[in-house]
Amino acid sequence: MNISGKTKVVGIFGYPIAHSLSPLLHNAAFEKLKMDFVYLPFLIKPPELKRAVQGIKALNLIGINVTVPHKQAIIPFLDELSPEASLIGAVNTVHHCQGKLIGYNTDGAGFIESLSQEGGFDPRGKRVLLLGAGGAASAITFSLVEKKVSELFIANRTFKKAQELVDRLKKTASSSCYLAPLKLGELSGTNLLPKIDLLINATSLGMFPEDPPPLSPHWLLSSLFYYDVVYNRRTQLLKAAADKQIRYLDGQEMLIHQAALSFNIWTNQKAPLRKMRRVIQEKGG
Ligand code: ATR
Repeated sequence: MNISGKTKVVGIFGYPIAHSLSPLLHNAAFEKLKMDFVYLPFLIKPPELKRAVQGIKALNLIGINVTVPHKQAIIPFLDELSPEASLIGAVNTVHHCQGKLIGYNTDGAGFIESLSQEGGFDPRGKRVLLLGAGGAASAITFSLVEKKVSELFIANRTFKKAQELVDRLKKTASSSCYLAPLKLGELSGTNLLPKIDLLINATSLGMFPEDPPPLSPHWLLSSLFYYDVVYNRRTQLLKAAADKQIRYLDGQEMLIHQAALSFNIWTNQKAPLRKMRRVIQEKGG
């Protein structure tokens, strides 16, 4: 890395931030394309967020990624939002452009791009069961509805949050799909799974080795495509999908594709996906 007076600066705001793989991904991409950019981690405590966002302009940063716990809290401090960010109600990318801070959300689009490009799966007209109703679930479901899935079931431990997400999705203009909230613990008593084309784990279950699977591996039927958003390890369900030779993707692909879309917003260049995938795989050992 060759930092000079002309080097452009991007980065990520989060708390905590030390675990983030985004600096690795983006700096590898800049290096590969010989671009004079650097990507830095910024540990921003919640009470400092407003001043940190003002700092983007003051320091003339090109843009930032936003991660936990700031994705929603940052919205009031931005000048504009993309339609996706506005629908999802969360921002993961900010572009400092012509004196304005514009908020985007590339999580949902990153999910869809990885699903079609790496998984060869077209969600249009498909029946989808998504587990979870948090931030990742919200971004993914808005993109799935936009891609015109035919049925979308959202199963969450806390039913009320699944219900609230369904209510928000129903308000979107493009929402012509059948939407239904479910309680995660009651899924196995239904006869839903055999009808599902795409099963997504968008809960955080699986991030730790001791986590139980959100659903019995018994329900991984050969007819479905399984996508697990957990990116830091191979979850029990991912291992089961591999054993059963079911088509699947893990959260690393969503991570790479959302990063590639942020990279494109800041630089107007296509990100080197293969290089980004390689550094993540090397890091994983
Ligand atoms: P993220 O940004 O990764 O989506 P989040 O917004 O905190 O994180 O959402 C975490 C999701 O994982 C939620 O759907 C949560 O369910 P609740 O809404 O009931 O909290 C789900 N989750 C976390 N731990 C869980 C557990 N032990 N069992 C089932 N679901 C769990």
